[in-house]
Order: sequence, then C-alpha cells, then structure tokens
Amino acid sequence: MRIEFVSIDRANPPSDGAVATVVVEGGKLSTGAELLDKVAGGALGRAVAAGRFKGAKGTNLELVAPAGLEGARIAMVGVSDKGWDGDAAEDFGASAYAAVKTSGAATLTLLLADASGEEGARAAFGATLASYRFDKYRTTEKPEKKPSVETVRVAVDDPAAAEAAWATWKSLAEAIFFSRDLVSEPPNVLYPESYAQRIKALESMGLEVEILGEAEMAKLGMGSLLGVGQGSRRDSQLVVIQWKGGGDAQPIAFVGKGVTFDTGGISIKPADGMEDMKWDMGGSAAVAGLMHALAGRKAKANVVGILGLVENMPDGNAQRPGDVVTSMSGQTIEIINTDAEGRLVLADALWYCQDRFKPKFMVDLATLTGAIIISLGNDVSGLFSNNDELSENLLAASKATGEQLWRMPLPPAYEKQIDSMIADVKNTGGRAGGSITAGLFLQRFVNNTPWAHLDIAGTAWKKPSTVPTIPDGATGFGVRLLDRMVADSYES
Ligand code: BES
Ligand code: MN
Ligand code: ZN
Repeated sequence: MRIEFVSIDRANPPSDGAVATVVVEGGKLSTGAELLDKVAGGALGRAVAAGRFKGAKGTNLELVAPAGLEGARIAMVGVSDKGWDGDAAEDFGASAYAAVKTSGAATLTLLLADASGEEGARAAFGATLASYRFDKYRTTEKPEKKPSVETVRVAVDDPAAAEAAWATWKSLAEAIFFSRDLVSEPPNVLYPESYAQRIKALESMGLEVEILGEAEMAKLGMGSLLGVGQGSRRDSQLVVIQWKGGGDAQPIAFVGKGVTFDTGGISIKPADGMEDMKWDMGGSAAVAGLMHALAGRKAKANVVGILGLVENMPDGNAQRPGDVVTSMSGQTIEIINTDAEGRLVLADALWYCQDRFKPKFMVDLATLTGAIIISLGNDVSGLFSNNDELSENLLAASKATGEQLWRMPLPPAYEKQIDSMIADVKNTGGRAGGSITAGLFLQRFVNNTPWAHLDIAGTAWKKPSTVPTIPDGATGFGVRLLDRMVADSYES
C-alpha cells in the first residue's frame, strides 16, 4: 500500500475514490466533513441527523456518490469527544481503512483539515497497521474479496510536516509487520534454522547477528534448552542480535521464547487447536521486531536481543517426563511435563544473556502459559518482575502505546510448588497459579539482574480481531511497547 501526503484545497475538497472524514461523538462534523458537506449541499449533516450514527468511536456511516460529490464514497468515521490527538488520529486512519478496504475504491483519502503533521502521520500509521494481511499462500482468492485500496492519501494542511513525522512511524510499522509475518508463517516453513536465517538478513540494517547451533550450545552446557529440541529433526538455534547505537553504555537486553511449533512433546497436546501452536514463537518475534524497530530509527542505545529457537516434538529421542536435565546455570531440572517447555528454553537463554552481556536489565517475552489467558484474557499481558523501576517503565510505555500490561505477583511462598524431590527445581507447579509458578521458575535463572517477564500467551494473536489496528491473527504485541520503553527510558 502506498502512502502519500497532500495539501487541502478548501474550496475543492477531494471528490474521488473513498474519502474519510471525522465526525466527533455527539454528531458534530469536523472541519474536513464541513468542507465536504458544503460541496454536497448539506448531505453529510442530513445523514447524521437522519439516523443513529452520531460519531460514536468505532462506528461509521458511508454516503455513496451524493449529489455534488458523484465520484466519491464518503466515509464518516466516529471519533471520541475526549479530545483530538495522535491516538485519535491513529484510530481514525485504521477505522477508515477497515470501513472501505474492500469497497472497490483504489484510493482512500484521509481528509484531516486542522490536524497537525504529527496527527497526519499517525492517521497513516493507523491505516497501515489496519492493512496488514498475510496472503502469500493464497492462490485462488477472488479479486472482489481482496482489499481494493492501493493508495492512502493523507490530506493535511502541512503535508511536508506530516511526511517528515511519518518516517519514524513508517519504520515502526515495518518492524511490526516483520514480527507479524514471522508469527504467521507456517511451522513447516519457519523452523529454528530458517527462522535464524531470516534474522541474519537483518544485518543489512546494521544489526549484528550471531547464530549458535546445537554443538555450540552443548559446549556452553545448555541442557535445559537442548532437551526441548531433542525430539525434533530440526537443529535448535540461539540467535544473538546486537544493536550498538549507544556508545559504551551498558546494554539492555530482551529475550524471547521461540518455540516454532509446540506439540507438547511426549506430554502431547490434544489435536483440537494444536495448529495454533505455530504461534508459540511470538515472544521471540516481538524481540526480533523490536530490534528491527531500533535499527530502523537508529536508536541511541545498546540493545541485545536473544531468541531461543526450538521445535517441541514427540519422537523416539524426545525428552521424557521424569528426565533430569542440567541447565547452563548448573541447576538441575526435573521434567514433569514436556509441554512446559518455554521456561526450559528461557532458563538457558536468560542465563546466557546475563552471563555474557551483564545487562542493565533483561525483559523476556513468551507465550508461556494457558493460565495467563484465564487470568487476563486476550487484551492484557502479564508482567512479572523482581524490580519496581523496570516495571514502572514498562507500565508507562504500556499506557502510552495501549499495549496493555498488568503486574502479577511472585510470592515466595509459592516457590515450594516447584521444588523437586530429586533435583533443584521441577518444570511445573500444578494448576494453582500456573503463570506465577512459571514466573518463579524463570526467576531462579536470574542472578541479581533487574528482570521482567511478559507472558503474552493471550495477546500474541487475535481471533477474531477487536480493534482495526490489529487485523485477525498475529498482533505484533510487544514491538511498539518495548520500542517506546527504550525511547522514553533508556536513550541518551
Ligand atoms: N505454549 C504453551 C502455552 C500456551 C497455551 C500459549 C495456549 C498460547 C495458548 C506452553 O508451552 C504450554 O504448553 N504451557 C502449559 C504449561 C503446563 C503444562 C504447566 C499450559 O499452559 O498448559
Ligand atoms: Mn507447551
Ligand atoms: Zn509452548
């Protein structure tokens, strides 16, 4: 999809293709809507007066080819009366795109008279996010089912300012799409090695990428991560990504669970819905997307991204419930359930991260537990942390971006749920507080480093979508949030 920024001729507002304009909750026409209303002999005002559409957020009304604007499809898009700002502009752009994407119009003009350049850029960002589609494997879709909009034209008073503001938002959208694409790829295409190669390709953006295979991980003593991949024909991989934009500052680090397919292993999952477990690498895709975003905007920070990539399969060589493995930290782990594999991957990835990089902090992201979906549903991710300052910075970025987090406790009293009879720790803690005992397990592999864990099992994908900026499927949750946290709290 192409994005263009154009100026507004107030006597001759855009009159071809789809034209979206704001109606403020309560029914008040925006300046842009009034320009169109004038040319169309009051048709917009009459339409609002005639029916239930009164500009409520999330609603819209289309007027097709009204007299005076015969060539146009006017989409009146509701925007909250709580105040017009960048967030409202983003919602507007996304809702407008969603409203007309398959209408037949090839061009969508977002008519934003009286909006700033920044708001124009945010409208373009919203429309772009809403246009995400993973269709590389569709070969027979009928043209009338495909989106028709090819160009989004943002009409603002100062198109040069909007164009300038667009650069950063565009690069963030590309990073989010990169992350969504990884999550959407089928597991026969995206497996640890092919995934690692896609990350390697990011070197063209100025990122440094190292790939460790099984032999190297064995040398490092990563028995916990390697045990998970043991039943797979695919080689496990640890990918280390570095962005060095911060001089000699101590790095900050992000670690992602990248289970490219989670069958559960010998503790195999039920068949129903198992295909969803291609999404079990969503945490790592968020980290990869974040690194893409940081490189895209040349962030002034030193950032490490670590992806633990494995496939969890049942096999004659697969790990058994009852096995004891030795992690890189030296701690032994009794495997109770081979389906609690994400924490086993992260245990070694987190240890490696702090051992090698001595980061200022580590944040891990993982589709770790079904229990977090029971606790927080599909809009809110669980935040677990040993550090209040880091948590506050994450919560502030959460508030600013709308990617919601809720801090969960790590009560020491629950530690006994993961004490093993024969090893240092066991990999499941029973049904009670399942997301918390998973967090406590991870914490045992963190050594005096400020650390936070985001359980994104409920938020890495959405079926069905509930907001226009996130179409059905992979959300890219975390990319925007963490990019914002780095920008606001850790850049010089
Ligand atoms: N990948 C799953 C968690 C998950 C479940 C993510 C549903 C997204 C949707 C994880 O590896 C898993 O299987 N966790 C188990 C842990 C249990 C065996 C202690 C779970 O949540 O049931
Ligand atoms: Mn599992
Ligand atoms: Zn899993």
